[in-house]
Amino acid sequence: MRIVKVALGNRSYEIRIGTGLLARLADHCARLKLQGRCAIISDTHVAPRYSKALLNALGREGFDSTLITVPAGETAKSLKTVQACYDQLAAQRLERKSFIVALGGGVVGDLAGFVAATYLRGIAFVQVPTTLLAQVDSSVGGKVGVNLRAGKNLVGAFYQPRLVLCDLDTLATLPEREYRAGLAEVIKYGIIYDAALFRRLERDLPALLRRDPAILAAVVARCCEIKAEVVRQDETEGGLRAILNFGHTIGHGLEAISHYGKYLHGEAISIGQVATAALSARLLGLPPGDVGRITDLFGRAGLPVAVRLSPPQQKRLLAAMQLDKKVSGGEVKFVLARSIGQVEFGQRVPAALLAGAIQPQPASPR
Ligand code: NAD
Ligand code: GLY
Repeated sequence: MRIVKVALGNRSYEIRIGTGLLARLADHCARLKLQGRCAIISDTHVAPRYSKALLNALGREGFDSTLITVPAGETAKSLKTVQACYDQLAAQRLERKSFIVALGGGVVGDLAGFVAATYLRGIAFVQVPTTLLAQVDSSVGGKVGVNLRAGKNLVGAFYQPRLVLCDLDTLATLPEREYRAGLAEVIKYGIIYDAALFRRLERDLPALLRRDPAILAAVVARCCEIKAEVVRQDETEGGLRAILNFGHTIGHGLEAISHYGKYLHGEAISIGQVATAALSARLLGLPPGDVGRITDLFGRAGLPVAVRLSPPQQKRLLAAMQLDKKVSGGEVKFVLARSIGQVEFGQRVPAALLAGAIQPQPASPR
């Protein structure tokens, strides 16, 4: 098992990465002195597969636990589901000293974390991420929240978990498309922070696509190390943490104009990262060879690298980017790459260049 520490003073915690970890969750909860009642929040795809193992393990350790199942999918990240969770927590008499276990992908983690942050003004929670995206990104760093009709993640908090348990065994049941979408966040870490990781991904991609446990463990741990270091330096996104959003402004815009129905998040940010690499070449001198390697790696991972947009769609995309949370003073600020492994945040992109970067492409893989 690999352990990565997120160093945040008295809110520090460990990310444990390995196989066979679900059965050990209860020991870890006991070690952290979590006590009393516990609610596992999971979704309709994950709960039938993995909640029993957790409930049994928690029961053996003397925890009185209950299961709350929410619908699978992004629509569950809503205030309506939050309300339903509060009602069930109250009915089950969870108290200040009780805790929540988020068992699922990023949707469950963000939702359950927000419930934990606000129920009784905050109770402890543990992340048990079961998608690749959640293991390398959303379960780490304490961003929790839900969507409004007006946009994604518009209500939320920074609220750190007490532990993140990444059981790689759970990835065995993850649908192929979801797994590949998670690879988009993995590749992002290479681009924003670690040229050696990027080279490793170029070399080991076939093993990663086979979900080879040893390669997965090393890669998930490296991604978590990078995220932990960025969050340690800038927990509430005053500056540096913005680098984690490389390619996300265009990606979020694409998700919004397709009403969150066409692309998975990872697919949208794959297109966004490739377009942002092209912008980086124009504005920060990212070498053309690096743009090619970035485009090639996303393509080899089975992710879309371009999008065919009609002129009205292009217009809507530019407008949607203006609504992104990263807009400040009416100006969209970008994270751009100088080279693979080195990026700069807070970069201005002239409107004309931006329109050029998302112009209709001659061909699109999807
Ligand atoms: P998700 O939670 O919707 O999971 C994807 C699908 O896979 C769902 O249908 C889910 O039920 C299913 N699933 C999950 N684990 C499974 C398993 N082991 N076996 C079989 N099926 C499984 O999506 P996601 O990609 O994990 O997360 C996306 C969400 O994460 C978005 O809401 C996004 O905003 C959020 N996010 C948050 C952060 C953050 O820092 N908090 C970072 C990135 C993304
Ligand atoms: N996924 C972006 C962040 O955690 O800041």
